[in-house]
Amino acid sequence: MPISQSTVQPINHLDRDYLRHALEHDVRTGLTATPKWLPPKWFYDEVGSDLFSQITRLPEYYPTRRELAILRARAGELAAASGADTLVELGSGTSEKTVLLLDALTEAGTLRGYTPVDVDAVTLRSAAHRLADRYPGLAVQAVCADFERHLRLLPRTGRRMVAFLGGTIGNLDPAAREVFLKELRDSLLPGDTFLLGADLVKDRGRLVAAYDDAAGVTAAFNRNVLHVINRELDAGFEPDAFEHVALYDDDNDWIEMRLRASRAMRVRVGGLGLVVDFAEGEETRTEISAKFRPEGLRRELAAAGFAVRRWYTDPSGDFALLLAEA
Ligand SMILES: C[S@@+](CC[C@H](N)C(=O)[O-])C[C@H]1O[C@@H](n2cnc3c(N)ncnc32)[C@H](O)[C@@H]1O
Repeated sequence: MPISQSTVQPINHLDRDYLRHALEHDVRTGLTATPKWLPPKWFYDEVGSDLFSQITRLPEYYPTRRELAILRARAGELAAASGADTLVELGSGTSEKTVLLLDALTEAGTLRGYTPVDVDAVTLRSAAHRLADRYPGLAVQAVCADFERHLRLLPRTGRRMVAFLGGTIGNLDPAAREVFLKELRDSLLPGDTFLLGADLVKDRGRLVAAYDDAAGVTAAFNRNVLHVINRELDAGFEPDAFEHVALYDDDNDWIEMRLRASRAMRVRVGGLGLVVDFAEGEETRTEISAKFRPEGLRRELAAAGFAVRRWYTDPSGDFALLLAEA
């Protein structure tokens, strides 16, 4: 592909059949388990991605501002240290922070391609268009894919920096992280680098507030998974009958978001031929967001075969951004 042509038409590894099958599997498995759970990737349809974008601007939600501060200070060093000509971004969403990396790679004179990767096709396409317009000549190849399943299918052209920002790695539990990091490590070619943004353990009051904002945006984001299941699987959830819960689990060092049934309910999931009973007060886990201790994160990366080359935190030590090599 000539680099003057941007391909904003995504490569799609998530056709309707695949998505439907994956959602059916997750909803059936999670809602018949005890305790009940749902994986966080189903928050993100167009509405969910927009709500997440609003969350990043809330006063309580420090991670985005902290990661941005590190990127503003260090993007030039990261671009130089990576020598990358292609930025691959996992869970890219609206790609708002990405411009700092693209600007730094442009400044370094190496930038040729950008590959945003996300499960939300609508937000992915609009971010890809926005960046293709902003960087004429940049080869933008969006990929609609699941980073827990499709890493080996991502384009391998160029010298790549694979960025995974926003602390999204914390949405994976330790076992899933181990698999993810090993698969990512195996998918990298010599010269490729991994840029990881991770939220750090801190005062629990600030942590909980970041996931339970006063304006109720995170609550709406949490309930969005029920709207998605209603629409896609012909279910009869009344989202407003579920309360948003955010708590910090000290044993595991993670935030949990849950949906608590405000009364006993029987919910039909038509697409699955499934009837799910909720007791009053019963909680369904919808997300974990792990918080890291530096030594623990370094250990996990080393176990997967990564060597950390740069490690930066913001001045308050809230968030870490690191560059690793395979
Ligand atoms: C917490 S948001 C972070 C967005 C952005 N990277 C940032 O730093 O603000 C997580 C993003 O990852 C995407 N996502 C979640 N699970 C995914 C998966 N399994 N595969 C691909 N994308 C996923 C969501 O659609 C969303 O855009």
